[in-house]
Amino acid sequence: MDKILVTGGLGFIGSHTVVELQNEGYEVVIIDDLSNSTENVLDGITAITGKQPLFEKLDLKDRARVASFFEKHNDIKGVIHFAASKAVGESVQEPLLYYENNISTLVYILKELKKLPSAAFIFSSSCTVYGQADELPITENAPVKQAESPYGNTKQIGEEIISDTCKVTPNIKAIALRYFNPVGSHKSAKIGELPIGVPQNLVPFITQTAIGIRQELSVFGDDYPTPDGTCIRDYIHVVDLAKAHVVALNRLLQNKNKANYETFNLGTGKGSSVLEVVQAFEKVSGEKLNYKIVGRREGDIISAYADTTKANDELGWKTELTLDDAMRSAWKWEQVVRKG
Ligand code: WQD
Repeated sequence: MDKILVTGGLGFIGSHTVVELQNEGYEVVIIDDLSNSTENVLDGITAITGKQPLFEKLDLKDRARVASFFEKHNDIKGVIHFAASKAVGESVQEPLLYYENNISTLVYILKELKKLPSAAFIFSSSCTVYGQADELPITENAPVKQAESPYGNTKQIGEEIISDTCKVTPNIKAIALRYFNPVGSHKSAKIGELPIGVPQNLVPFITQTAIGIRQELSVFGDDYPTPDGTCIRDYIHVVDLAKAHVVALNRLLQNKNKANYETFNLGTGKGSSVLEVVQAFEKVSGEKLNYKIVGRREGDIISAYADTTKANDELGWKTELTLDDAMRSAWKWEQVVRKG
């Protein structure tokens, strides 16, 4: 089967996608700079699939190294590009780090793909491009709004770079996948989310609080115009998200795409509030979570959840796992990781 490059393939979503690519029979080569992951994630992937993917530690900002990588692997048929810095708050403090790491690396990869006979390119984008959408659920036609952070801006700029490239580069076909909120872990608990330092995202903070690493969860505001006052998001199980990447790649490699550049929202189509996520966790774990309501977090939008019609109809993909499944697997993973 075809050889696929997965950049950032040892990260949270990347590693789950490598598992699903291998399950589909693809040969996988991973590039990761290990800035936000560790090489033993490779063992977790291998333990699940029985196949060790090829791995090269490589900083994609090193253009010469990127070029020599593609000379060596000139039989690559597709790229799934996860590698990027993704901490919203950090991006506000370090914009140039984000523009260099998230944009220049994308340009270097696309320049190498231009040299190949043909290439399928899947881009890790985010619902953050919509900002606070005027209409809910959010469709792919919702207007892209002024980014709330340099991180979000790099996703918007990245989509534009790919779209402009595909217009004049017939041998590159691309799909941008706009994730809502990825949560959970593989049911084997051999791979999962490994946030470094204090987690910014809700679910790892919940599981670290329940296991005792964090004192208590701060719920950032309960005075929003929502049923229970807390923000609403579309929490999608990372395994469903990973499978969508395989479906999107197959679409391009089997020439089923309807345009040279397409975008798809990846979510469950259901919104859940912060307190509903907490309640789901308590229900599936049997743990009482220690949390308190504090002030709002700067930059948070009130509510976002996906209109999944296009992905359901065009990709023939829909989520199968629930918020409870995500909480159960996230908790199992946290317990395994802390057991060491
Ligand atoms: C979810 C909800 C918080 C932590 C971000 C990025 C997005 C993507 C996913 C990279 C919000 C609340 C959180 C906590 C809380 N990242 N919360 N206490 O902000 O929707 O999306 O992560 O691609 O691009 O923007 O996710 O998990 O940070 O927050 O109350 O300790 O949980 O206020 O309402 P978010 P999140």
